[in-house]
Amino acid sequence: MTKIKFQTPSGMHDILPEEEKYYYKIEEIARKIADFYGFGKIHTPIVEQVGLFEKSVGNSTDIVQKEMYTLKTKGNDWLALRPEGTAPIARSYIENGMYNLSQPVKLWYFGPFFRYERPQAGRYRQFWQLGFEALGEKSSIVDAQIIQICYNLLKELKIKNVIVELNSIGDKECRPSYKKILASYLKKRQSSLCSDCKKRRKDNVLRVLDCKEDKCQSVKADAPQTLDYLCEECKKHFKEVLEYLDEIELPYSLNSSLVRGLDYYTKTVFEIFAKDSLEKSIALAGGGRYDDLINLLGGRNVPACGAAFGIERVIELMRKQEIIDQEPEVQIFLAQIGELAKKKSLNILEEFRKTKIKIAESFGRDSLRNQLNKANKLKAKYVLIFGQKEALDNQIVLRDMETGKQALIKLDNLIKEIKKKLKK
Ligand code: HAM
Repeated sequence: MTKIKFQTPSGMHDILPEEEKYYYKIEEIARKIADFYGFGKIHTPIVEQVGLFEKSVGNSTDIVQKEMYTLKTKGNDWLALRPEGTAPIARSYIENGMYNLSQPVKLWYFGPFFRYERPQAGRYRQFWQLGFEALGEKSSIVDAQIIQICYNLLKELKIKNVIVELNSIGDKECRPSYKKILASYLKKRQSSLCSDCKKRRKDNVLRVLDCKEDKCQSVKADAPQTLDYLCEECKKHFKEVLEYLDEIELPYSLNSSLVRGLDYYTKTVFEIFAKDSLEKSIALAGGGRYDDLINLLGGRNVPACGAAFGIERVIELMRKQEIIDQEPEVQIFLAQIGELAKKKSLNILEEFRKTKIKIAESFGRDSLRNQLNKANKLKAKYVLIFGQKEALDNQIVLRDMETGKQALIKLDNLIKEIKKKLKK
């Protein structure tokens, strides 16, 4: 009989404890930052109606065209594993009548997302995002604050060489005429475009500016730039965002070909990069303003702005920049010998847990030598040796692993004595 080998689906991976500590750390720091800036945590379902993403992210985008995991339920609902978090939050804002809350409504999220992309470095089919969204405020200060929050998060994580790239893609006033100008420019240079961009020129002309193909680079370089065609309002908004960023001395650079791969953006768009040890830029986060999204989904006119990080990429960078988290040291190890001692050991461990003192054990091993080896590996400072005699006398041996000195302690005084030792 042949054995079947099961593996994780392509582009997905197990997050083992060694890696999970990075997720934990990022979420912990994010929570503190979110609390400070007044963001409340939100969880939306992992699946949403397909139409939500078609309407918001956009029918002609790669995400909707090629990358959604969709499924039909037994009840004939047509659902998609969420490829991103902004549309679900806009949906939730409308569905839960968040208009009635004090505006802006500030929300953050941390969870898995799904895109059927070609798996490669930094691109997964299940990946985690951390996002911040502020809904219900049109002022440019919110754009700057979202960027500041993202920047601060990376700083707190000790990530170096961070740079924010910014652009404005206008709004429904000025973008249509810019798109026409760009389309007519591209029509003249059609033969120099890659096959995808020939299609994009008709379906989603802005995306040509985002093309990475060598063939399109010279066409892109000479293309009309969004910033030159902004209406007065968009121009003013963008100028203010830059002024706020200058005020807080946040490093940024303008990137006229930054348009983002999702259709709901208006005005400010940005991406945040950091360099790895080989000077390769990694896109850690993306975001921008989406003033029309809630209206587009059937809600009122609610301007909004947000951003999301790709957690695997942040972790990759933390590893490459050698930002290693030290495990809290185990200072105490409990070694038990004999049935009675083993039996009583669980309760001893509980005493330590209640007082929040970390203690390790190896209940599966019975020989003292093996247990001391493990304590040595963990670099424990003290080992508690609990044998049959000690268990009968309600006592325990405390061994200082550095000096080799041993002392007999009453079980009743154990926590008190350990606290004294750890204070020294
Ligand atoms: P996005 O640029 O599509 O924007 O994704 C944000 C970040 O998620 C990217 O910068 C990247 O780090 C990470 N990411 C995206 N796809 C993958 C993948 N396949 N594997 C690993 N990481 C990935 C959004 O999703 C918007 N919802 C962001 C936003 C929030 N805009 C406004 N508010």
